[in-house]
Amino acid sequence: MSSDPLPTLRWGIIATGQISSWFVRDLALSRPDAKAKHIIQAIGSSSKEKGGAFVKQWIPNVSPPPTVYGSYEQVYAEPNVDITYIGTPHGFHKKNCLDAIEAGKHVLCEKAFALNAREAREVFAAAKRNGVFIMEALWTRFFPLVQTFQRLVHEEKAIGDVHRIFCDLGLDMDIASLGPESRLKNPALGAGTLLDICIYSLTWGLLTLDAKRGEQAESPKIVGVQTVSDSIDFATSILLLYPSGSQGILTSTAMFKTPEVFCRVEGNKGHITVEGVSASCPSAFTLYSKEAGNSEGKRYTVDKPGFGLYWEADAVAQDIAAGRTENAIMPWAETLRIMDTMDEVRRQGGARFPVD
Ligand SMILES: NC(=O)c1ccc[n+]([C@@H]2O[C@H](COP(=O)([O-])OP(=O)(O)OC[C@H]3O[C@@H](n4cnc5c(N)ncnc54)[C@H](OP(=O)(O)O)[C@@H]3O)[C@@H](O)[C@H]2O)c1
Repeated sequence: MSSDPLPTLRWGIIATGQISSWFVRDLALSRPDAKAKHIIQAIGSSSKEKGGAFVKQWIPNVSPPPTVYGSYEQVYAEPNVDITYIGTPHGFHKKNCLDAIEAGKHVLCEKAFALNAREAREVFAAAKRNGVFIMEALWTRFFPLVQTFQRLVHEEKAIGDVHRIFCDLGLDMDIASLGPESRLKNPALGAGTLLDICIYSLTWGLLTLDAKRGEQAESPKIVGVQTVSDSIDFATSILLLYPSGSQGILTSTAMFKTPEVFCRVEGNKGHITVEGVSASCPSAFTLYSKEAGNSEGKRYTVDKPGFGLYWEADAVAQDIAAGRTENAIMPWAETLRIMDTMDEVRRQGGARFPVD
């Protein structure tokens, strides 16, 4: 048993929208198996009143309470903050990350990391210059269930060679009813399903079809089609064709909620179905092995208090405590590969952002 104390990380939260509310609640959870101690040091919001209401609503019992600022800049300047969590819409990520990096803060930035790969490269270059840690908050990859899935597929070859994966993330968003400034409707904020939700379907495709990660990963052929209106996509379908012949069929829509079973992986020795509230947040998968001949399959589940965002937060704390500037599960090269892929899908599919 290690006697090392848990690493402690003091968080500055940028923005008080939905995902920030999930993140702070998860940081504040008491967990017997936590791999780090998280302190919610400061909240930065467009107004002090909004920030105060956020604390009151979501983390009223955190003691001592975080300092609430009516600007993001005050969080970047706060000496007691080690790392900033960026929970703004996609269109602000580059600026928020650069501001935090220039202030010497480490960064955990929500997905999609930026609007395009060019912006992402600019942010990583700044992080490298300043020697700070930065990671895209692709929380799903840190679920122990997902790591079990990867071990079974890649190391144990539990379904043999994978031929195809289908993954869908659809939500009934009723985008037509939203105002023009909504992050789901405004192209300048990175609206559309590709960056918001197809990124999770793409993630499952890469997790399943990539035998190697990051810079060593193979380059599949990419086909992207999109249903576009006012330059944002209401539905995206990505086809990945790997040199081995394996295919990923990875989709999203803003017009239909995907049923519980959102993913099927087919191999020559069996198949796996994955289920959960959405592809971002899996709760179980079932392995059907031809060799085992068990028609009911073997089910793997996850015991998960809260939302499951603490697994990525723990990983970040451990990296920073060890002096690393990137994470092995979500390295910079992987974020760039995803951004490059999404750029290509938009190039073929037609969705555009003003910064392109
Ligand atoms: N919602 C989810 O389920 C989910 C899950 C995973 C990841 N994400 C990612 O998290 C990020 C934020 O998503 P969200 O759903 O939390 O968004 P949201 O609920 O709309 O909140 C975004 C927050 O960003 C700040 N903001 C600054 N300028 C803004 C502007 N012009 N328009 C709107 N908000 C502005 C606001 O906080 P202040 O007023 O306090 O500054 C706002 O509350 C996105 O990158 C998204 O892809 C979301």
